[in-house]
Amino acid sequence: MKEEIISLLKKNKNEFISGEDISSILGISRAAVWKYMKVIKEDGYNIESVSRKGYKLISSPDLLTFEEINSYLNTNHIGKQIIYFNSIDSTNNEAKKLASSGCPEGAVIISEEQTMGRGRLGRSWISPKFKGIWMSVILRPDIDPMNVAKITQVGAAAVLRALKEQGINAYIKWPNDIVINNKKVCGILTEMSGEINKVNYIAMGIGINVNIDKEDIPKEIEEIATSLKIEEGKSIKRKTLVAGILNNLEELYEEFIKNEDIKTSINICRENSILIGKSIRIINRNNEIQAQAIDLSDDGKLIVKYDDGSVHEVISGEVSVRGLYGYV
Ligand code: BTN
Repeated sequence: MKEEIISLLKKNKNEFISGEDISSILGISRAAVWKYMKVIKEDGYNIESVSRKGYKLISSPDLLTFEEINSYLNTNHIGKQIIYFNSIDSTNNEAKKLASSGCPEGAVIISEEQTMGRGRLGRSWISPKFKGIWMSVILRPDIDPMNVAKITQVGAAAVLRALKEQGINAYIKWPNDIVINNKKVCGILTEMSGEINKVNYIAMGIGINVNIDKEDIPKEIEEIATSLKIEEGKSIKRKTLVAGILNNLEELYEEFIKNEDIKTSINICRENSILIGKSIRIINRNNEIQAQAIDLSDDGKLIVKYDDGSVHEVISGEVSVRGLYGYV
């Protein structure tokens, strides 16, 4: 009901809508309207209430609900269903649960905070309340499971483009970190359920440190992690950024499923790569090899040259890549 009232207020933005009209349109009592209005105001909506005139929406908060994101979306299916949580263990866990019980392609699970956010390679992911974008997109591509790894580059390209559209300059650190000033602001965790020749679903988890302050970043990772707010020196609106990511994701994803080809995404990853041309370390469990990153292959592998001159393609799977002396 709260959602319906917000949507009525938005339709009548800059005008008053009476409590009586709200109650008859939605079939609830005037007292219920008053109660919901109180909760909506507590959520951060600025609403002017004037007796005998009713309610007027003055401004909306930067919440990641469907009502707040929808007006910025221009997609056909991605983000047309947003499942919103105030707090959850991990949006990827929830996406996997929902996808196994039939939740459709394009549904997005978003939470204002995660209490057990997960990163790649079994790491944890800090996800403080209202300060980031913690979301997972359910995808059901009819593709060969062998090609699923490519989709991470589609996600990274979508995030990068959305950031650029907001005037934020960033780079991609293969396979799927987004970095600004050599520190990480975003990571992507792609998980899949499938059989030998069939993908059941993919949960693409995207985590972006948006308005995290310096004090929120634990000492152990302060050399490698940052946020958009720290780097840009100002708070960034999360809802427009979420919509921008989903808009770009749908466009790039459609190219991918049409021909299992990720040309545009790979070009974006290549042109904005922080690794290409650099000396790197490829870390695989306890084993570390030094190499020169020279390019990305058309199917999203990192092409590297070892000291002996041999050229190899690295698959993202279990490796972590670092710069020679630090994170990049
Ligand atoms: C990484 O770089 O290690 C990947 C980080 C992915 C974090 C996101 S936040 C939303 C989704 N839910 C999770 O538990 N993890 C991903």
